[in-house]
Amino acid sequence: MQTLTIIRPDDFHLHVRDGEALKSVVPYTARQMGRALIMPNLKPPVATVEQALAYRRQIEAATPQGSSFRPLMSLYLTDKTTIQTVREAKAAGIAAFKLYPAGATTNSDAGVSDLFKLLPVLEEMAKQGILFLTHGEVTDPDIDIFDREAAFIERIMKPVLQQLPELKVVFEHITTAQAAELVCQAGDNLAATVTPQHLMFNRNHLLVGGVRPHHYCLPIIKRESHRQALLAAVTGGQSHKFFLGTDSAPHPKHAKENACGCAGMFSAVTAIELYAHIFEQAGALHKLEAFSSQNGARFYGLPENSDTLTLVKRPQRIPETIAFGNGEVVPMLAGEELAWSVAY
Ligand code: NCD
Ligand code: ZN
Repeated sequence: MQTLTIIRPDDFHLHVRDGEALKSVVPYTARQMGRALIMPNLKPPVATVEQALAYRRQIEAATPQGSSFRPLMSLYLTDKTTIQTVREAKAAGIAAFKLYPAGATTNSDAGVSDLFKLLPVLEEMAKQGILFLTHGEVTDPDIDIFDREAAFIERIMKPVLQQLPELKVVFEHITTAQAAELVCQAGDNLAATVTPQHLMFNRNHLLVGGVRPHHYCLPIIKRESHRQALLAAVTGGQSHKFFLGTDSAPHPKHAKENACGCAGMFSAVTAIELYAHIFEQAGALHKLEAFSSQNGARFYGLPENSDTLTLVKRPQRIPETIAFGNGEVVPMLAGEELAWSVAY
């Protein structure tokens, strides 16, 4: 039987919610990932060091006994974030600040209204060597939802890179050829996470034959040429700048299967198997380990995990639903078969 042993992967973009929901989903990530960068878009947002440390304790308490999984914390950048917040974050071992342009996605009402007013705060991040993570979409109602990432590049990302060449920036969950190209061409201070859904699906998967609420996430899935560009980026000559970030974002089934269904796909149950499938289909299975276990750690200035994970070419069926607090959540590709399994 074909097996593939890789350095234990990390997930550099993960939503675990809080309370009972958190307890349901954390174990899935903990059984395959060494670390995960936890997103701060709770209600209210995780915007202070104190909140982040309390949130980390919640995640640690939900981590199964004997697991070596470690959550890495991020703070939600708001109009009120100060230079002092950045210093405190660095001292407390917080890994990053996350930019949500106000209104861009789930729980982003507290997001930043004008990033350039926060330049001194970003300068302090550069000075402290703390990472700046971006949800890279503009929220201007005049900009078409499919063009919001490309517009963000011109209006925000390029000026930020130009004005703050020392700042380490992660362009989160990229979805377009323009973003992939920018990351390939920029300096080594810019990297990107790429989700399984944006590598697997184009917008036909979302819209042809009926609206598929479980394929709805933000940034929205784009046309096939963009998917091809993302695949080329993660397997190509500049692939060291791209790494695993699932953006696994669980929502209760009823909130997705709804007249106004919310954005987010839950992929944590089979995250590494999905990426193994993607890389194998692209003829680049030999590049999976760098993407999942090395490039992100290097960019974050962390050591690689010291243990390994073994994938086996053994089919598994993805569950139709998973318990989620007192309800249920539908995983990405629910009910479908995957060729790879993890040897737990
Ligand atoms: C995320 C969520 O639900 O928290 N949703 C999503 O569609 N990706 C938020 C985000 O990362 O945009
Ligand atoms: Zn996200």
